[in-house]
Amino acid sequence: MRTAHGIAVALSAGFRLATAAPFAESSLLYVTSYPTGSGAGKVLTLKLDQTKLETVAESDSCGLGGEKGDLAALKVGDDLSLTKLSGGPTVVGPVSTIVYGDGGRGWLLPTSERGIDTYNIADPAAVALLKTQVFPANAEVRPEPQNQARPHQAVLDPTGEFLVFPDLGADLLRVLKVDQATLGYTETKSHEFARGTGPRHAAFFKSESKTFLYVVCELSNLIQGFSVTYNDDKSLSFTQVYNSTTHGGTDPVPAGTSAAEITLSPDSKFLTVSSRNEKSLQYTLANGTAVPSDPLITFSIDAASGALAHVQTAPAGGVNPRHFSFNKDGSRVASALQSDGRVIVFERDVASGKIGKAVAEANVFGMPNFVLFKE
Ligand SMILES: *[C@@H]1O[C@H](CO)[C@@H](O)[C@H](O)[C@H]1NC(C)=O
Ligand SMILES: *[C@@H]1O[C@H](CO)[C@@H](O)[C@H](O)[C@H]1NC(C)=O
Repeated sequence: MRTAHGIAVALSAGFRLATAAPFAESSLLYVTSYPTGSGAGKVLTLKLDQTKLETVAESDSCGLGGEKGDLAALKVGDDLSLTKLSGGPTVVGPVSTIVYGDGGRGWLLPTSERGIDTYNIADPAAVALLKTQVFPANAEVRPEPQNQARPHQAVLDPTGEFLVFPDLGADLLRVLKVDQATLGYTETKSHEFARGTGPRHAAFFKSESKTFLYVVCELSNLIQGFSVTYNDDKSLSFTQVYNSTTHGGTDPVPAGTSAAEITLSPDSKFLTVSSRNEKSLQYTLANGTAVPSDPLITFSIDAASGALAHVQTAPAGGVNPRHFSFNKDGSRVASALQSDGRVIVFERDVASGKIGKAVAEANVFGMPNFVLFKE
């Protein structure tokens, strides 16, 4: 499973302190990218200037972990150069990251290879492994990728007290109760999905009185919404309030479709998911060439019931939109097209939630799997 071993980036409090801001905040983006052949992946800094998007700094000091993964704390210099402060091989290959605990000192890597690693990142110059936990084998033998636990992402609940992991291999939402002071955790009751659902990523939504969790499922290409109950015994319960395909409704998605990301808009009114390998749309590159595109699909959220309503199916700008993210005010969306080696920044209408025309696009090193506005 070498391809699952990735690199991911998180901006911790410490990293922000170490960072000067010589440019307007929203003009910089961080990207991680797999190599196309052998060798190291890279962390890239892209600068957006009007309609120009280009790589202005890069580091290959992450992604050297081979069969394992790799972790690097990078300092962003005034000249935007990336310098490794600390890090090293991870216990297994990470697929995602989350910052947790008081003061944003904890860092957790779900690994898609059975377990999770936690780190103390309070000092970026001395990032330290706290604990590795490997989840038990599935009770029955199942074909890949469900032959073992594969926690695919960790999301922190709105209270900061619980970490929730969609486990694609075990069809579970695993739930950890966090000790915010010690950065330790205890495992609590999991939620079980139907066999073959393949939960991959998730997003919380908190209304005034309710908390909902939306899970995008890679193997079944479903979005399932749950109302979340905080129990007295410090566990969570999940009651299904919504279920549709990633396109909304029940019509089957094209063969080969593989849902990837789910993200709540900054104003908490919309959810957007990315769906890979459909090639159901077209996108016209800046040079006029039309290329096949997968979709970014947006839904509005009914804050009372938690139900979703389809708003828009827009081109992601190419194939395999592994990741995308919103800027802080939601007026831009950046899309990382892993198979096309391209990153695109789109306009987004905050009121309607609709993604508009491209602002800028760039061909980047390797196969980009993650893109984040520096804000
Ligand atoms: C969700 O919807 C799908 C597709 O319409 C259906 O096959 C599946 O059984 C539903 N699952 C649940 C748990 O409601
Ligand atoms: C347009 O750009 C794409 C991506 O960089 C490239 O593959 C293609 O050859 C270009 N087409 C023309 C007509 O320049």
